[in-house]
Amino acid sequence: MNASRVIGAEAVEDARRKGRIVFEVLPGDIVTALAQEAAQRLGIRLVDGPLEKPALICTDGAVSMRRALYRRSPKWVAPAKAPRKARRLGKLALVGAGGVGGTVAHLGALSDIAHEIALIDITPGMAAALAMDLNHTAGITGAKTRCTGGTSLDLLAGADVVVVTAGRARSPGMSRADLITTNARVIRQTAEAIRTQAPDAIVIVVTNPLDEMTVEMLRATGFARERVLGMAGTLDSARFRTALARAAGVDARDVEAITLGSHGAEMAPITSRATIKGRPLEVYLSAEQIDDCVHDAVTGGGQVVALKKTGSATIAPAHAVIEVLDHIRGARTGPVPVSILLRGEYGIHDVVLGVPAFLGATGLLKIEELRLSATETQNLKAAAAAIRERLGL
Ligand code: 2OP
Repeated sequence: MNASRVIGAEAVEDARRKGRIVFEVLPGDIVTALAQEAAQRLGIRLVDGPLEKPALICTDGAVSMRRALYRRSPKWVAPAKAPRKARRLGKLALVGAGGVGGTVAHLGALSDIAHEIALIDITPGMAAALAMDLNHTAGITGAKTRCTGGTSLDLLAGADVVVVTAGRARSPGMSRADLITTNARVIRQTAEAIRTQAPDAIVIVVTNPLDEMTVEMLRATGFARERVLGMAGTLDSARFRTALARAAGVDARDVEAITLGSHGAEMAPITSRATIKGRPLEVYLSAEQIDDCVHDAVTGGGQVVALKKTGSATIAPAHAVIEVLDHIRGARTGPVPVSILLRGEYGIHDVVLGVPAFLGATGLLKIEELRLSATETQNLKAAAAAIRERLGL
C-alpha cells in the first residue's frame, strides 16, 4: 500500500516542466483543487495509476526528442521557447468616459493596450478633454496610444473592442437592479451604433445591472454570445481575494478565489475551490471569517457607493476591465470569470451569468465547467432564476 501523497499545483507544474503530459495519481493520493486547475491550465492529464509504462506515455514528444538529441551531442541546445506576446488592439472604444471609462483609458494608454483609444460621452467636451489630457501624458510616459474623444457614437467606427460603461450609476440605497429601465435604453442605443459602426467588435458590458444589460446588448446587437461579455466577475473576485487576504493577514497574491453568478445580491463567491497559499480557506480562517469575506465581496460595490454618496466605484472596476482586455489580447492566460450567455453549461440555459471562461482574440473561446459544491451549484441556479425573473423571461 502506498503512503498517500498530497498532490499540489507545484507537483503538476514540475511534471509539466519535465515534459510530462500525464500525471499519475496513485490510490490514496489527495489532489488539491489548485493541482486540478494547474493540470487543466497546462494541458496535463491526471490519470489514475499505477500506470504500466509511465515514462513512455507520460512524456511529450518534443521533450523526448530534445533529450535524445542532447544524449547524442551535449552541445546541442534546444531552441528557447518564444515568450508569449500580447497582441496590441487596433482600436479600443469606450462608450462612457466617466470614472470607469476614464480610468480604463488611463490604464490602457499606460500599458499600450491599443493603437487608438476612442472615448465617447454624451456630456459635451468631457471625452474630448479627457482624450487631450491623456495624450499630454505621452510627453512623460512615452505612451504610444493615441486617444480621441467626442460625443458622437460615430467614433466607434472600426473598433475591435468596445467597452460600454454608459448609463446611470447607483445612488446610496439603490440596488443595481433599480437601474434596469433607464440603462436598458442606453444599451439599446449604443448597441445600434455598435452594429453599424463596429460590426466585428467584441463588446464588454460594464453598465449595471450587469447581467441584465449584457442580455440587452446581446439582443440589440444580435451578435453571437462569443462577442458579448459582461465584466463583473473579475471585479467581484478581486474584492473577494482582497477580503480573504486581509482576514488571513497575507498578500493578495497568495489568494486564489473567484466569484460567479450574478453581479448583485445573488453573487456566488466560490469558497470550495478558494485557497490561501495553496491551502483550503479553513486552514487560515474560521467559518465566520469566511462568511464575512463572502459578505464583503457581495457588498463591496455598495459600500463604496454608500461612502461616495454620488456615483459608484471606478478604480477597481477599471482594473477589472483591463484584466478582461488582457485576456482577449493574450497578455494573460487561463480562465477568467465573465458574464456570458449560458447554453446548458452548469445546467443553466439561455440566461447571462458569471462563469469562468477562456478568452482570446475572437472573444469567448470556451467556458470552463468547474466542479462546485452542491450549495454553490444551487446558488448559480438561484442567480439564473432571479435574473430571468427580473427580465420577465
Ligand atoms: C461595482 O460593483 C460599478 O457595479 C460596479 O462597483
